[in-house]
Amino acid sequence: MTPYARALERAREQTGFIDLANGQMHPYGYRHPPEVFSGLWEIYLRDRSYAPQALGPRSTRDALAAWYRRRGLPAQAEQFFLTSGTSEAYRLLFTLLCPIDRTLALPLPGYPLFEELAALSERPVEYYALDHGWTLTPKGLEQLSRDAAVLVLIEPNNPTGRILRPEEVGTLRAFLRERGLVLIIDEVFESFHYGHGGPSPRALDFPDILVITLNGLSKRWACPDFKVAWGLVSGPERARDSLLERLDTALDALLPVSPFSCRLAEHLLQHPDDLSRRIAADLTTNRDCLLQFRKLNPGLLNGPLPEGGIHWMPQTPVADDEQLAIALLEKWQLHVMPGYLFGLEDRGYIVMSLLLPPPLFAEGLERLGRGLRELADSPV
Ligand SMILES: Cc1ncc(COP(=O)(O)O)c(C=O)c1O
Repeated sequence: MTPYARALERAREQTGFIDLANGQMHPYGYRHPPEVFSGLWEIYLRDRSYAPQALGPRSTRDALAAWYRRRGLPAQAEQFFLTSGTSEAYRLLFTLLCPIDRTLALPLPGYPLFEELAALSERPVEYYALDHGWTLTPKGLEQLSRDAAVLVLIEPNNPTGRILRPEEVGTLRAFLRERGLVLIIDEVFESFHYGHGGPSPRALDFPDILVITLNGLSKRWACPDFKVAWGLVSGPERARDSLLERLDTALDALLPVSPFSCRLAEHLLQHPDDLSRRIAADLTTNRDCLLQFRKLNPGLLNGPLPEGGIHWMPQTPVADDEQLAIALLEKWQLHVMPGYLFGLEDRGYIVMSLLLPPPLFAEGLERLGRGLRELADSPV
């Protein structure tokens, strides 16, 4: 166990502990009221009859196609596959799309989960570095070797909270075409855009690229316990059909989704989006609080403000990110994650979450301000 992990374990037991790195939906009550699901189990039991389909129940894939069509993407049920989580989808895609002697291209900074999934898939990774404004640049992409076979794009980005601009989309598209790479777009935080309505699916920007768009109930619908996620395969027809065929074979052996969970997913896809809107509203309030904090405390949390997702990666004046995180845990019972966990070491980056009820977020931020002021004056 690292010193940071030990300090976190101890701090969690203290009264007054605030997890300003929270990534979970349920601890702070981001949950659908039970009435949303009432009667569904009884209906399921009434006509229950297990007839597995490798890519997932047809009715769920129909509901998904309709959901994407409502959002401007002309999807068909045949383009979807279902898994128990996007993590499982990643793992499957990494092995199917990346030959054993090629590599996976991940963003830097990036969420450590993807490296773990790449390791489980026994595929090496390389990185395209985002610049200090978290922009995707031609220079960052040129760092990738010719071995890269699959590029992962997180949109909105986790942990930077940034959303791609049209010129970055153009740069990426040209690069993918030139190198013949496959694109995985992770849209699990797609509805969390501060102050804006939901965006169009990003796959619309890459019509000539083989794209797999990932999403699921875990984040956007705040139902990680239902274990339903999906991939939408789009792009040139031959490449698309060939991948779907290989997915069909692999998933026929695994059959990873529960039909009842899939019914829950169908229900949620057709249900009003109240919870997602409530989460987005709280995130927006917290972002406004950040704006105010920065006006009153210049120089403490630097870098572009988050635009979407649940996390943010600001730079602080305390260069040793690990010691900073430990000091905040030990002295202020406050949890933020050190930047080294996301690939940026000793430059004062932290990762914090906006997924907290606004009063608690404001309290956590105020405590972070006090901690940073003290530590910046007498660095740890
Ligand atoms: C950007 C992103 N994608 C995917 C996942 C995995 O989600 P799932 O619960 O669907 O496996 C995470 C988990 O935190 C995440 O942050």
